[in-house]
Amino acid sequence: MITVTAATGRLGRLVVAELLQRGVPADQITAAVRSPQKAADLAELGVQVRHADYTEPHTLAPAFAEADQLLLIPSAEYGRRFPQMKNAVDAARAAHVPLIAYTGFVNTPTSTLRLADEHKQAEAYIRQSGIPFVFLRNGGYTELYAGELGDLAPALDSGVMYGCGADGKVSGATRADLAAAAAAALTGQGHAGRAYGSGSDGRVYELGGAPFTLSDVAAEISRQSGKPLVYQDLPVDQYARALAAQGVPQAFADLLADTSLAVAHGDWFTSSTDLEQLIGRPATALADVVAAQLRAL
Ligand SMILES: NC(=O)c1ccc[n+]([C@@H]2O[C@H](COP(=O)([O-])OP(=O)(O)OC[C@H]3O[C@@H](n4cnc5c(N)ncnc54)[C@H](OP(=O)(O)O)[C@@H]3O)[C@@H](O)[C@H]2O)c1
Repeated sequence: MITVTAATGRLGRLVVAELLQRGVPADQITAAVRSPQKAADLAELGVQVRHADYTEPHTLAPAFAEADQLLLIPSAEYGRRFPQMKNAVDAARAAHVPLIAYTGFVNTPTSTLRLADEHKQAEAYIRQSGIPFVFLRNGGYTELYAGELGDLAPALDSGVMYGCGADGKVSGATRADLAAAAAAALTGQGHAGRAYGSGSDGRVYELGGAPFTLSDVAAEISRQSGKPLVYQDLPVDQYARALAAQGVPQAFADLLADTSLAVAHGDWFTSSTDLEQLIGRPATALADVVAAQLRAL
């Protein structure tokens, strides 16, 4: 049984679809979700749907029972994710889960990103749990850089795309690429059939595609839209204030600016070829993601 948490989310849904496409029988997949009513379509496909809310520990061990492999996708609730993951790992131990796969961020141990702090804590907790593991350290979602956050239309109107990533590189990948990598890892494809161990014998994948700078993103959007667009770098405080002035809540604006600053620090770059090796193809090109975002405008 492969159990996928947060399977009603965008990444989780893509992982379930990939598992099915790779021939895993639907009744061998469990969608362990906070909101079972949102997973009715998965139940219709024959996927087992179980209630699993990270904040309600009593729901977790029963949801993880019979799991041979448990994919833990953290929630997006910044500041609450480590306690949530701690609950999930404790439940995995109680349910005698033989393998945890955890989706964090690329370069987790060295990342200066505030959002990476809870991934550091979660990875450490999984390591000391004694449960064999694989860390799927996901690169930045390319969709987020290509306008998914709603910043594409304003940028095209003004002709300027702001950030504080300087000329740092992002080894971006789409959620679909990363879901394919997770499914490959969970089904034993792409890693030469080597078993996963615990502690220092756990497996770590750094998952990223062909790198791009924020100037590359602006140039690609400009090329495809036929409108002038340049990237302008701002000091981090000024970028956070600019986001807040556009109506982004201050706390979220600060996080977005910190995430952009991490680009300048190189935290979103990896030279690893793990992603391509796992999925057997290059990650989706920036140009394809930009095209999809422009179509969606
Ligand atoms: N690599 C990157 O660039 C990047 C960027 C952003 C986020 N992330 C991380 O990747 C994760 C997956 O991304 P995504 O795009 O799939 O996010 P998403 O679409 O927002 O999905 C988040 C999922 O978390 C679930 N969830 C929230 N609170 C929960 C709880 N208390 N217990 C159990 N499940 C809970 C949600 O359930 P409901 O359907 O019930 O709401 C949903 O299924 C995010 O949560 C975040 O940790 C990565």
